[in-house]
Amino acid sequence: MTPWVTKSATLCVDFRTCKQAPILSRLTKHDWEMDMKKAAALTFTVLLTAGVFNFQAHAAGDVEAGATLFKRICGGCHQIGESARGSFGPQLNGIFGRQSGGTTDYQYSDAMKSAGIVWTRETLTAYLEAPKQVVPGTRMIFWGLSDPEKIENLLAYLQTFQPQ
Ligand code: HEC
Repeated sequence: MTPWVTKSATLCVDFRTCKQAPILSRLTKHDWEMDMKKAAALTFTVLLTAGVFNFQAHAAGDVEAGATLFKRICGGCHQIGESARGSFGPQLNGIFGRQSGGTTDYQYSDAMKSAGIVWTRETLTAYLEAPKQVVPGTRMIFWGLSDPEKIENLLAYLQTFQPQ
């Protein structure tokens, strides 16, 4: 079969759009194969680029999604924001750079008091993934988050409560 395609088919990202292009010239089988190879390579590049940008978007974290998550899974125990204070768990304002067990209006467990952790993106990520592995004996009863995207979003939200 010798398909009919336009020269511009080489720029088609999606095979289906190629077939919809106006029929202008008849290509040889060889041309067709070359065009399809180019189209495939281009598709691959486009997908790769989209993937990289997608990854960057995730790495930055989605504050809105993080806020929703915080309310749903942390907010029952933790307060954050202007009037936040220790409740069932310690308040989480300015958490990045804070010493573990560092707030003055909360009674920490001995485990947290002696954990000696500085909360950073890395230590927070590890703690949220598995609280009891990072601070054995912590009173934070939390099963842990396994989705890195959710953690990124939460961290992005917590970041908005850092002092300027
Ligand atoms: C069931 C209640 C509960 C939930 C849910 C919970 N926490 Fe906690 N969290 C605590 C308690 C209690 C502590 C203090 C632990 C201790 O003293 O051992 C704590 C401690 C922490 C600390 C250490 C704070 C410090 O001052 O050192 C961070 C950070 C933290 N939680 C973040 C979170 C985030 C983020 C979430 C949501 C993904 C969350 N927690 C969910 C109860 C909870």
